[in-house]
Amino acid sequence: MYAETAFHEVCQTSDVSPDQPFRAELDGEPLAVFEVDGAYYVTQDMCTHGPGSLSEGYVEGEEIECPFHQGRFSILTGLPTAAPCILPLKTWRVVVRDGTIYIGTPAGGAAP
Ligand code: FES
Repeated sequence: MYAETAFHEVCQTSDVSPDQPFRAELDGEPLAVFEVDGAYYVTQDMCTHGPGSLSEGYVEGEEIECPFHQGRFSILTGLPTAAPCILPLKTWRVVVRDGTIYIGTPAGGAAP
């Protein structure tokens, strides 16, 4: 498991577009990378309701719709916004430098 106090490279900003999330992986953990209004967000890729891959879902504004049962989450907070999803997604702090997206501590955690 990677240390949560350091930032880790996930992908390039050019890998992500507002309509097309990017599936990344860090130490075996699948991640979904999103672009909303020019900002980047990272959540776990696996839906908390089942086997849906959120990077293969449909972006609707600030929400991602799971392709499996059409549940929804806020990309910004990871909180569920539509049934059948009830458990929040894990999210990470994101830093962008020179076109590279890095993640640090999980959102809500202590600053590195
Ligand atoms: S697996 Fe995502 S809504 Fe069911």
